Amino acid sequence: MSIKIEPFKNNIGASIACDLKSIKADEVVKTKEALNNYGFVCFRNQNLDPGEYLDFAKLLGEIKDYPMLKDLEGHKGITVVERKEKDKGKSYGEGWHTDSSYLSKTPRYTCLMGKIVEKDQGQTLFASQFASYEALDQKIKDKIKNLIGVFSSAGPISETRLERESERGTGKAKDFISEHPIVRTVKNKKALYLSPGHTIAIKNLDEKNSKNLLKFLFNHQTKKEFQMSFSWEKNTIVIWDNYSIIHSATPFSGRRLMHRIIIDA
Ligand SMILES: [Fe+2]
Repeated sequence: MSIKIEPFKNNIGASIACDLKSIKADEVVKTKEALNNYGFVCFRNQNLDPGEYLDFAKLLGEIKDYPMLKDLEGHKGITVVERKEKDKGKSYGEGWHTDSSYLSKTPRYTCLMGKIVEKDQGQTLFASQFASYEALDQKIKDKIKNLIGVFSSAGPISETRLERESERGTGKAKDFISEHPIVRTVKNKKALYLSPGHTIAIKNLDEKNSKNLLKFLFNHQTKKEFQMSFSWEKNTIVIWDNYSIIHSATPFSGRRLMHRIIIDA
């Protein structure tokens, strides 16, 4: 029997029913197709230990190091994203962004698995950048088609990482800066590639024009109509395509612990 893929509203994200302990090669292909089509996918009730989780992630591509945080002991490639009861301030990743866009080779997929999730402990918001690109006026599409963005790890979202770095940091975190085209093509479909938490300028525009254009595009790409709010549960795994979706954690209190893997594909 084939896996069942159910897209969410407006085709932003999809739920896949599949036991990831025994996923087959053709089901991996379908999962990747769903990522191309819907930007993110979720799998509920996956009771995988860290080794099994890594085995599954390897089927999607090459597991990458995350330069900012230490790996889970004994499981290279998994980083722990934890918010403790006592933590104050913003949650890790709170604010719109796409992961590690400040690296020269940006990671394609991010996987996140809920390990400790109490009831009502926050959502992740996703915004489809296929949809946001599609909704732009042709004039703007023409204007931005060859523009290059400047992406920095010291952008506004970095403040949410500092608390985790003080506990689990590698100590070698430096500021990374990279340039990327702000329109990306994923399987013949165009997507806006901008990360409000990291994009600090548009290359070859003066400061005023760069600021104004970014303000307009950040506001556009995060409109409600392109969003889907996803609720976490323990043993849920979500994978998103950093080339076609942006995301933001939402505020919550109490403890939550996730295992994160980033993948090149
Ligand atoms: Fe993120």
